[in-house]
Amino acid sequence: MGFPGTGTIWMNGRLVEWKDATIHIASHVIHYGSGVFEGARCYATPKGSACFRLDAHMRRLQLSGKIYRMEYPLDLAGWQSAVLDTIRANRMKSCYIRPILYRGYESLGVNPFTCPVDAAIMLWDWGAYLGKEALEQGCDVKVASWSRMAPNTLPAMAKSTANYANSALIKMEAISDGYSEGIALDVSGNVSEGSGQNLFIVRDGTIHTPPLGSSILGGITRDSIVTLARDLGHTVAETIIPREALYTADEVFFVGTAAEVTPVRSIDKIQVGAGHRGPVTAALQQAFFDVINGEVPDTHGWLTYVYPEEDSLRSPQQTAAGARG
Ligand SMILES: Cc1ncc(COP(=O)(O)O)c(C=O)c1O
Repeated sequence: MGFPGTGTIWMNGRLVEWKDATIHIASHVIHYGSGVFEGARCYATPKGSACFRLDAHMRRLQLSGKIYRMEYPLDLAGWQSAVLDTIRANRMKSCYIRPILYRGYESLGVNPFTCPVDAAIMLWDWGAYLGKEALEQGCDVKVASWSRMAPNTLPAMAKSTANYANSALIKMEAISDGYSEGIALDVSGNVSEGSGQNLFIVRDGTIHTPPLGSSILGGITRDSIVTLARDLGHTVAETIIPREALYTADEVFFVGTAAEVTPVRSIDKIQVGAGHRGPVTAALQQAFFDVINGEVPDTHGWLTYVYPEEDSLRSPQQTAAGARG
């Protein structure tokens, strides 16, 4: 995946040409991982372009910033408007959305307080993260030798750039060993999450996913899948999952903004269930894609339509007016 390198990037309220959107090498974030960020998606639906759970993503950005004592002069509505304005300025129909808050250029030392908190929002095209084929066939993964961060080291609930050093170790090990993804355990040896996705298992008709206390990022897709699964009448338990439950599960799947809903067909070369996408995974994938493709009524209010000129594609209640910045 290479960047198309076009369009404009929002930087502290100004739209800057892609090639000019640079920061100084002495910026604090580069040396000390002092950034928090988001990853959201805008989908081209038949009813117009729509961001999926934009409010929840921007709220999480604010809370990640709060954990790291980073203040930025935008409220939730301001953040959402900034994202929508950036999409509109770039005339994107669909895109991946990457807002980031980071400690910028002032001085270098571990103490970040002296450095400004800067922000940017960039957009690009990003297809199926683990490959289109994996969405149907499932992916082959391994349990990583690296654990997720211990709770009193780096806070997993904050989507901080620093956490992704751990994710990169998990991902590099998996790829080097011939797998497409890794599953990390927490420091107690229980299942945590993938390098950039949350995880669900299905066993005897019940759906399980690790709790926040298992060093996971509180994923917005995870929350959506829990809601959709309950809508479909499934029982969902947020519960500690021992490693061996991965091998004995009927179905395992990843969820995340990038991975969407991707089945896992083998773990450590042990076949999961029947070795292909299972019925519960398929039903939840369908329910999720129906929502993001605007093919079912948006009963949970998860879509924010981007372009006012597309309002006529929808009923009056679903206009972009409420989100206009
Ligand atoms: C470590 C990690 N866990 C889980 C997720 C899934 O979170 P979300 O569904 O909010 O994208 C992500 C993706 O951002 C992630 O990086």
